Amino acid sequence: MALEKTLVLLKPSAVQRALIGEIISIFEKKGLRIAALKMIQLDDEMLSEHYAHLADKPFFQRLKDSMTAAPVVAMVLEGVEAINVVRTMTGATNGRNAFPGTIRGIYSMSKQENIIHASDGLRSAIMEIKRFFKDEEIYEWKQTCFPLLYSEEEA
Ligand code: TYD
Repeated sequence: MALEKTLVLLKPSAVQRALIGEIISIFEKKGLRIAALKMIQLDDEMLSEHYAHLADKPFFQRLKDSMTAAPVVAMVLEGVEAINVVRTMTGATNGRNAFPGTIRGIYSMSKQENIIHASDGLRSAIMEIKRFFKDEEIYEWKQTCFPLLYSEEEA
């Protein structure tokens, strides 16, 4: 089982609704290690790259406007199989369909204003971490509670 890093953005909707602390706390309590954390104002260029797969969609400009309406909080989370774990915790894209207990399921009633972005696979996690963080902004601090989070065979 692999120790993975994944990228999370707390979107402007989370920042405006004062949910930053609460959502970070959910990830911390789960046992994920926060390897990097910062607030950034996204711009058109970063978003055109980040959401390149949606460039031909009719909602693309609306999505970019929503993502630049306030700063976002970006973080790198690490854990065993973290990419899948965080994606599962995030829930379905449309908050109205997201399972209760997921972050979108708890906090969102919308497809666009859905609070959080999380990398959807290994390739995108690697690219997205690079997009938002310099190497020196990512800290390899040792999680001393690690032996309490995982069995020896899992870690
Ligand atoms: P996508 O990458 O499909 O979903 P996810 O964020 O769950 O990985 O879409 C990126 C963002 O685009 C999504 O979080 C919200 C927005 N979006 C819309 O506003 N309308 C839509 O119909 C879709 C599919 C996405």
